[in-house]
Amino acid sequence: MTKEFCQFIDNYRLNKFVVVAEVQEGWMLYNTTTGGIVHIQNTDDLQKSLDQLVEMYIYVPLQFDEVKWVDNLRAKKYSKPGNVSINGFTILTTLDCNARCFYCYEKGRPHISMTDTIAKDVADFIIKHKTNSPIHIRWFGGEPLMNVNAINIISDALIDNGVKFKSTMISNGLLLTDSIILKAKHIWNIKHIQITLDGTKDVYQKAKSYKDAVGNEFDTVINNIGKLTNANIRVSIRLNQGNYNTTDLLDLIDFLATQFKGNKLFSVYNSLLFDEYIEADNQADKEKYENFQKVQDKIMKCGFYAGNNLKKNLKYSHCMADNDKSLVITPTGDFGKCEHFTDQYLVGNIYDDKLDQNVILRCKEQYKPTQKCFECPLYPQCVRITLCPEEKEFCSLIQCENKIELIRRDLVKKYEQTICKEAEN
Ligand SMILES: C[S@@+](CC[C@H](N)C(=O)[O-])C[C@H]1O[C@@H](n2cnc3c(N)ncnc32)[C@H](O)[C@@H]1O
Ligand code: SF4
Ligand code: SF4
Ligand code: SF4
Repeated sequence: MTKEFCQFIDNYRLNKFVVVAEVQEGWMLYNTTTGGIVHIQNTDDLQKSLDQLVEMYIYVPLQFDEVKWVDNLRAKKYSKPGNVSINGFTILTTLDCNARCFYCYEKGRPHISMTDTIAKDVADFIIKHKTNSPIHIRWFGGEPLMNVNAINIISDALIDNGVKFKSTMISNGLLLTDSIILKAKHIWNIKHIQITLDGTKDVYQKAKSYKDAVGNEFDTVINNIGKLTNANIRVSIRLNQGNYNTTDLLDLIDFLATQFKGNKLFSVYNSLLFDEYIEADNQADKEKYENFQKVQDKIMKCGFYAGNNLKKNLKYSHCMADNDKSLVITPTGDFGKCEHFTDQYLVGNIYDDKLDQNVILRCKEQYKPTQKCFECPLYPQCVRITLCPEEKEFCSLIQCENKIELIRRDLVKKYEQTICKEAEN
């Protein structure tokens, strides 16, 4: 079989929004609009399965307009009337922090913390507006653990009022102790914590620049990560990558492998620092992209990569900022849509039931798709809002080429885990 997959068959052609991955025997095909996945062994198989492939929109009539198809599906969903209940809350317990990361986008903001009264009123708001959908809380900051009081007050009030909730946390992980981990598990109902590491010990200590540092903060955080997974709380490590720490991050992954290899509750991902954005067409940035991939490859090689790139549904929103089910709550009880903006793009507050629809609409503004988008298999999975500091007018290599490659890798993995296994049995 040729390595090139068959683009045309009878009066049909391959849908532009299908990712093809070559596997040991044939190909895996993934429709990024419907989530459908199929394995094709050879050309005979292709011919025999054509009806099914057409039904799955993997092959489409020659004149088919994929872009219109996806746009119509999205428009249908957007125009559905009815009140959406809010069940996702990102709560900033404080803007204060025990670290001073040189890159932090919150640098210079006033270190306001949520008072006990506001925490109580936040809980009352959630209780008053609860529906049957389970509540999901994301504890955020600043460093959320600098205000454990607020987390306790909100969690206790929800429990006392019979409100079911789960939570996650974004933290630097330094202030975790045995008793906090117990609380996190049994009272805050934390299922997952994301902790950022910037490098091996020395690089980490410098990047974090903790206040009143004693020099063993790196070791404490690594120790805390182990304690979290022992308590059955999933931990994902974010590696903030810049030009300054690529090589060191590779060493860090080696170190993490000595500590956590095989730990099913432990995963790692790398992310570029915001000002390291890579332009898709800029040759000079190719090196940055290669550096990013080097770190990503090593994460995968160590079995630490947890990403699932085979989404089952068409994507309708970018994130919580353009999703009506979510709100950000600042330490002063104001509502925002994006965790990056604590004094801008506010849409209301806990003392008022009305949300500012103009700001909500502003948060949903999208970048116009380019000609490249109309040919890109990621179009059904790509919603880019202008509000997001992580998005630019033109997408980066990491958003596009790298994502397609990750999908291909997941398809190969799926093939090995399912099709090959079935053949063995
Ligand atoms: C502002 S911090 C607040 C939570 C907590 N203090 C922490 O560091 O995880 C939220 C997230 O933003 C990330 N972050 C902060 N500044 C960033 C930047 N300039 N580029 C990329 N990520 C950044 C941090 O790594 C962290 O994952
Ligand atoms: S730990 Fe988080 S909030 Fe604190 S300075 Fe670093 S990135 Fe910013
Ligand atoms: S923005 Fe980039 S990733 Fe998204 S559809 Fe367009 S080309 Fe593809
Ligand atoms: S707009 Fe960007 S930064 Fe803001 S919540 Fe969404 S993904 Fe995060």
